[in-house]
Amino acid sequence: MSGVLGTSVKRVDGRLKVTGAARYAAEFPLADMAYGALIESTIAKGRATHIDVQAAQDAPGVLGIITHHDAPKLHSVRMFPFGPAGQTLVPLQDTVIHYAGQHLGIVIADTPERAIHAASLVRVHYREETPLTTLKDELARGTTPPELPPTFNHIFGGSGRGNLAEGLAQAEVTIDQTYSTPSNHHNPMEPAATIAVWDGDQLTLYDSTQWIFGVRNTIATMLGLPQENVRVISPFVGGGFGCKCFTWDHVVLAALAARRVGKPVKLVLSREQMYTSVGYRPETVQHVTLGATRDGLLTAIAHEGISQTSEFAEYITPVGVLTGMMYACPNLITKHRMMPVNAGTPTQMRAPGEAPGMFALESAMDELAYALDIDPVELRLRNYANADPQSGRPWSSKALAECYRVGAERFGWEKRNASPRSMRDGDELVGWGMATAAYPVYLSPAAAIAKLFANGDALVQSGTHEIGTGTYTVMTQISADALGLPLEKVRFELGDTNLPKTPVTGAARTVGSVGAAVQAAASALRSQLIQMALADTASPLYGYSEEQIAVEDGYLSLAQDPSRREAYTDILARHGLEVVEAYREVLPQDANETDRERVFSGVNALRGPVTSKFAMYSFGAHFVEVRVDPRSGRVRIARFVGAFDAGRILNPQSARSQLVGGIVFGVGMALMEETLTDPHLGRIVTANLADYHVPVQADIPEIETLFVGAPDFHANPLGTKSVGELGIVGAAAAIANAVYHATGRRIRDLPITLDKLL
Ligand code: MOS
Repeated sequence: MSGVLGTSVKRVDGRLKVTGAARYAAEFPLADMAYGALIESTIAKGRATHIDVQAAQDAPGVLGIITHHDAPKLHSVRMFPFGPAGQTLVPLQDTVIHYAGQHLGIVIADTPERAIHAASLVRVHYREETPLTTLKDELARGTTPPELPPTFNHIFGGSGRGNLAEGLAQAEVTIDQTYSTPSNHHNPMEPAATIAVWDGDQLTLYDSTQWIFGVRNTIATMLGLPQENVRVISPFVGGGFGCKCFTWDHVVLAALAARRVGKPVKLVLSREQMYTSVGYRPETVQHVTLGATRDGLLTAIAHEGISQTSEFAEYITPVGVLTGMMYACPNLITKHRMMPVNAGTPTQMRAPGEAPGMFALESAMDELAYALDIDPVELRLRNYANADPQSGRPWSSKALAECYRVGAERFGWEKRNASPRSMRDGDELVGWGMATAAYPVYLSPAAAIAKLFANGDALVQSGTHEIGTGTYTVMTQISADALGLPLEKVRFELGDTNLPKTPVTGAARTVGSVGAAVQAAASALRSQLIQMALADTASPLYGYSEEQIAVEDGYLSLAQDPSRREAYTDILARHGLEVVEAYREVLPQDANETDRERVFSGVNALRGPVTSKFAMYSFGAHFVEVRVDPRSGRVRIARFVGAFDAGRILNPQSARSQLVGGIVFGVGMALMEETLTDPHLGRIVTANLADYHVPVQADIPEIETLFVGAPDFHANPLGTKSVGELGIVGAAAAIANAVYHATGRRIRDLPITLDKLL
C-alpha cells in the first residue's frame, strides 16, 4: 500500500483536540457528580495523633469525609518492577506518616470549591519526628546506603565483566569523578484526575493514566474485587512522562469516596499535589571511573549510582542501565544503591535510568577526550561496540556511527576549536558539545481487533493510550496500510479496558508492541476477506490465490489484471454480513505464556533487550551550541542538532515531535529543572511552576532532527525501534559539555544554574 506508512500524516485527533472535543478524564459529564479534596500530611515523619474533622463536617455542601478512622481495609499491591502500584504504601490504614503530602483522608462535597474549602478546615494533630530529607543531606551526614543483593541489582541493569582492577592498572589516563542530578518532577499539562462511578459492585474509573490495565488490576486488588468488576476508561491523556505509568493513591481514594456518598466522585489533583502524589525522578549521586590508554581505548569503566527512595518502598533509578552496552571496554562494573528518606516513592520519569546515567557517563567521556586531547566524536568511534559488549549478542541494528557522522556534518563540528573559551561571538562565550543517545527497545505482548463493516468503514480497537505522542494517528496509519483502505475509512479506538489488552504506554514500547498487534489483526482481516472472495464463485477473483491479489482503496484486484476487481463492500453484501472481524495477539519473539498472562492481567510489561537474542536499542547523537554571558553566567541554547537511528519511522512528523520533546526535556534537565526540599521540614518548596522552572518557547532554539538507519525487522514486524524517550538521553551531557567548552567550567551537578558558573 503506497504512502500511508512513513508519511507525516496529520494527527487524526488534531481537530478534536483543538476544538476541545477530546475528552480527558476530568471532562466526562456525569449526572449528580460530587467532588473530592485530599487531606494531606504537612509533616514528613511521625504520627497523626488526632484528625479533627468537625469543622469540615459542618461546612456547607460536605457529603462525607473518610480518614483512617473509618476507611475500609485495603489490600496492598506490588510496585515496579513486579506490579502496577505506584508505591507499596496503602492509604488510610494507620496513622504513621512517612512523607509530607501523604494522603490522610478525602473530603467529599457538592462542588470542588466546597470540597477544597472543607479539606482546609481539617485539623491534624501530629507527633513529629525528625525526618531524613534528601539523599545529599544523608550522604553529607555520613549515612552509607547498604549494598544491594546482586540479583536485585541485576534486575535494574547492574552488570559487570572482565576485571576492573586490571583494567585500571592498564590505564594510562584515568577520569574519576562524581556527578549528581537533582530530584525532578514530571509536570504534565493535565494533572492526575479520576472520576469514580459505582453501579452496584461494578466500578467505572475515568482516569488519566498510561496503563488502564494496571489501574484495573491495582484497584480491583486493593478493593478485593474481581478484575471484571472494574472498568477503566482513558481516551486522552494530557501528558504523563512516567507519572501516570503506575497507579497512585488518589485513584483508590476516589473509588472509596464514590462508594461512601453513592454518587460519582471527581478528584483532580492540584499542581502542588502533583509534586507529592504521583512520584518523581529521584536525586542521584553517581561515581564514574574511566581508564584508557593514551590512544583512547577504554580499559575500565565503573559506574556506581545512589538514588533516593522512600522509607517504605524500594525504587531504584538504574543510572548504569546503558553503561554496560555503550562502549567496547573489556572491564566494567555498574551498580546501584538506594538511600531511603522521608519522601514519597520515586517513579519512572523521562528515560528513568538512562537520562541521569548518561549525563554522568557522557560527561566523563568528554572529560576523557580533553585529558587525551582526542576529539570527543573520535574518542567514541575508537571505542565503538560492534556487538553488545556485555552479552556478546549481535545488535538488532545499530547506525550510531552514522548518527555521529551525519549529526557532526550537519552541525559543522569540524570547525570546532577544541580549546575551552576559544570561541566567542562579541561578548558571548560560544561552546560546542556533543553526547551519545541510546534507549532500549522494550516489547510486550499486545492484542487488537479489526472490523470491517458493510459500508466499507473499518474500526480497529486496542486498549492502549494516547498520551500526546500520536497513538491514534500511527495506529490508523498501520491499520489503513494493512487493510488497503484510505485513512478516512479507518477509525481507531483505544483507552478502555473492555478493548483488547495491551501493556503500559511507557518505556517507548507502544508502536513496536501495540502497533505489531494492530498490524497483525488488520492483516488477518484483509486475508479473511480475500479468502472469502477467492472461494466465492460469484466473485471476479474466484479461484485465484491470495498472493495474486492486491488491495487498494478498499478494492481487491488481480495484480496482473487490475480490471478484475471488486470492493470489500461487495463481498460483505453478497454474504449478507454486517461486519467481518479478526482478533490477534502478538507476543515478542522471546515471550512466553507467563509474560502474556502478566501483561494481560495488568501485572507487568517489561520485555526487551534483556531477554531477546538480539541486543535491541535505538541510538542517537546530540550536537549543541551554547552561548554563555560571562558576566551573568546565563546559558542560552543557540542551536541543537540530533541525529537518530530509531529503525523505521512510520510518521516522521510525530516521531520528530517526540524527539524534540525529549530534547526540550534535556534542556530543562541541564539548565533549569530542580525540585528543592526544605532540609529541616522535608517539604518540597518548589511545588509550583513559578519556582520549578521548565523550558518555555523562548528557551528553545530551532532544533534539527535527522533520521538515519534502516528498518529493523529483528526488533519487530514493523521495523520500528524506540522513539519516545530517546531524545532526552544524553541531551543534558551534550549541553554540559558545551558549557565546559564555552567557559572551561566543568559542571558535574545539575542543573547548570548561573551561580555555578560565576
Ligand atoms: Mo516513560 S518514563 O516509561 O512514561
